[in-house]
Amino acid sequence: MKNFTSFADAGDYKALLQQALEIKANPYGYQHIGKNKTVGLIFFNPSLRTRLSSVKAAYNLGAQAWVLNAGADSWTLEMADGAVMNGGTQEHIKEAIAVMSQYCDVLGVRTFPTLKDREADYSEEVFNKILKYATVPVISLESATLHPLQSFADLITVAETKQKERVKVVLTWAPHVRALPQCVPNSFCDWFSEVDWVDFVITHPEGYELDPKFTKGARIEYDQKKALEGTDFVQAKNWSSYQDYGQVISNDPSWMLTPEHMDGTNDAKFLHCLPVRRNVEVSDAILDSPNSLVIQEAGNRVFSMQTVLHELLK
Ligand code: CP
Repeated sequence: MKNFTSFADAGDYKALLQQALEIKANPYGYQHIGKNKTVGLIFFNPSLRTRLSSVKAAYNLGAQAWVLNAGADSWTLEMADGAVMNGGTQEHIKEAIAVMSQYCDVLGVRTFPTLKDREADYSEEVFNKILKYATVPVISLESATLHPLQSFADLITVAETKQKERVKVVLTWAPHVRALPQCVPNSFCDWFSEVDWVDFVITHPEGYELDPKFTKGARIEYDQKKALEGTDFVQAKNWSSYQDYGQVISNDPSWMLTPEHMDGTNDAKFLHCLPVRRNVEVSDAILDSPNSLVIQEAGNRVFSMQTVLHELLK
């Protein structure tokens, strides 16, 4: 593993998953890997789980960690090549990333999409600059299009919870009050469409189709009830339109998951990456039910990061 930005970087996902389960069973057993190593974490956007689980993962591995809130704690960074920097930006990403690379052995970066310029977002314009200027391995803490640490944590959660060899997993769109990125659902598709013990189905209102590059031919079922029939796991998430880029084209409240939606499932376990808008995306009754795995899922963010750090630092 050279960098960790997508499912493709995971290499042999079964081996990586097995490694994660072993690390979870013995979280302090690999401290020699992180000895005298530093993990740098740069956030251009807010975070609770990614920030704290990444620091905890570094500590578990015997490494040190520093966190920078780019822009807020540092100089305002210029992203454009060839910019005449006579405006509000004070330091170019070129120097900033090259300098910060000298202060760590692996660099995690969070850069959200604009949701305005699909071409710039889907070409990972900003993240690719970071990959270009970094001189150490880079981990995506959520880029413009993907959130691989979240999907890896989701995979760990499903693998350790499932009661049978093959399982059905459904990704369902959920309503929201704001336009959100497609990173989490893109990434969920990027990973779960590849897992050979998962029957994967995506459900959303028409117009919310994700980039086929990530859905990779997975079954799309527009009837949410039909999609949920017999499912073992359901992951709910809002996203804005990919086609009508960044727009909220429907906010149908009937898509909010309630216990009635779970009637036709195989007593499905519930997943959500968090943060979640209660009683907008999902009802209290789902989140507070014994079938909700959201806290366990967030806990597994430590082990997805710790496993990736282990691979990059070993
Ligand atoms: N799920 C997730 O990435 O949470 P944060 O945005 O709080 O890091």
